[in-house]
Amino acid sequence: MSDHPLSVSVSEFYNELNVKLNFNTRVNSGDLTNRINDLIKQLSPETMKRYYGSGIVIPENIKGCRVLDIGCGSGSLVFILSKLVGPTGYVVGVDISSGLIECCKQETEFHTKAWGYDKPNVEFHVGNAERLLDLKLGEFDMIVSNGVFCLVPDKQKAFNGVAQMLKPGGQFYLNDVVTQTNQPDSVKNDQKLFSLGTGGAMIWSDLKAFSAREGFTTPFLTQAAPVDIKNAEYRQQLSNAEYMCAAWRLFKLPAGASRGPATVTYLGNIEDYSDAFPWDFDLVFKKGEAVNVDADLATILSSTNFKNNFSFADFSGSVSNNRDQDPFQRYKDLQSQGNAPAPIYAVE
Ligand SMILES: C[S@@+](CC[C@H](N)C(=O)[O-])C[C@H]1O[C@@H](n2cnc3c(N)ncnc32)[C@H](O)[C@@H]1O
Repeated sequence: MSDHPLSVSVSEFYNELNVKLNFNTRVNSGDLTNRINDLIKQLSPETMKRYYGSGIVIPENIKGCRVLDIGCGSGSLVFILSKLVGPTGYVVGVDISSGLIECCKQETEFHTKAWGYDKPNVEFHVGNAERLLDLKLGEFDMIVSNGVFCLVPDKQKAFNGVAQMLKPGGQFYLNDVVTQTNQPDSVKNDQKLFSLGTGGAMIWSDLKAFSAREGFTTPFLTQAAPVDIKNAEYRQQLSNAEYMCAAWRLFKLPAGASRGPATVTYLGNIEDYSDAFPWDFDLVFKKGEAVNVDADLATILSSTNFKNNFSFADFSGSVSNNRDQDPFQRYKDLQSQGNAPAPIYAVE
């Protein structure tokens, strides 16, 4: 099957970027722990000068795991995860740009040596997020994607592939460019606006439906930072629409997993988070502090790889939780508190 015409122009755009390097994104270092920021400093210059993501997302508890990065670009996240999973884990990167995959392959030896491994624990493939199963990569404990779904014309197909390749109990950690309202066809079908991640940006509130159709749990929002459309011509074409780089944790639960509301207590045993573990925008678990959570979250915590990080006790009261976390509103809240993150991505 051949690629959608918009995906053909996206892969040409990224093959060209691989050479020209004229793209302006910054690493979301404020969201990352010191350990991860230190690892980023150790990545090869060839890898990092081609970092084009909307936000690095790092799933917890991944030692020994098999992890897939969809739209891995030059491989920055794959190489970070390669260190975090350790020599017994394995990380696979897939990208539609053959130029960027070639760059990943060339930089593999550098990172294998940097992490002190005898042999690489990564592999890379040219492939389309809409047809992940064609690659016959098997199943994964965790799947990540950074700044890619906004470039995929048929997002439902991509979610379907993730759902089929993720093991029950696994987490899909998605970072993407999103918008607030439906965009006109003139924007959606414009090759340049599409390749820049704006034309194909998902309406943030659609994520729940896309993912629920494939059996994922409620998404939990962990990042909201703006896209800065600096180019006046694009701004006008986009009718001054706003875009946000946002991250969500999504889970695929094992069949039959179900638990009632619970009082959970964080045990302080997630690496880098010995005192407190930030779950999402609304909830930070402090070590030793009992927190009442609804059935949705209690089921996730007790049936995924977080199950050994909490103690659980039944709770019969009701818990009110926001399960429609709007990244645009959350960004405004941060602004009013004087804590707004700088733009992650500038469209010039
Ligand atoms: C904004 S860049 C982000 C790259 C990488 N995740 C990073 O953080 O540097 C988007 C990447 O998605 C890839 N891409 C776009 N459409 C794709 C598709 N349909 N399937 C796989 N990769 C795709 C592009 O080639 C590009 O490398």
